[in-house]
Amino acid sequence: MLQCFPIIALYHYRIVALDIHSFIIHNSLINMDKPTIAGKAPLPVELKAGETYAWCSCGKSSNQPMCDGSHKGTSFVPKVFKAEKDQTAYLCTCKLTGNPGMCDGTHKKLE
Ligand code: FES
Repeated sequence: MLQCFPIIALYHYRIVALDIHSFIIHNSLINMDKPTIAGKAPLPVELKAGETYAWCSCGKSSNQPMCDGSHKGTSFVPKVFKAEKDQTAYLCTCKLTGNPGMCDGTHKKLE
C-alpha cells in the first residue's frame, strides 16, 4: 500500500507541501513539467447531460477552466469527459487536483 508522507515540491517559485500520493497523482514523478496555476479557486460550470467537455490541465488556456489548445507543444493533454447529467460542476483552476477536472480542495494548500 502506498505510504503517504509529506514532501516539498517547488511550484512556480512557491514551496508547496504535498503528500507523496498527490505528487504521484499529478504525474510529477513521471512528467517533470509543472502546470501553470491558473487560479486558486474552482470555477462553477453549468454542464449539460451528454455534452463533451475538455478541461485544461496545463493551466495556459485563456478559456479557464476549459481547454483552448494552448497545451500544444507541452506534455499536457486536456481531460475530456462527458457530463452524465445536467449539473453545476466546480472545475479545478489550480491544476493540482487529484481528481482531474473536478476541484478536490487541493487549492487550499496554496498560499
Ligand atoms: S481549484 Fe484546483 S483543487 Fe480546487
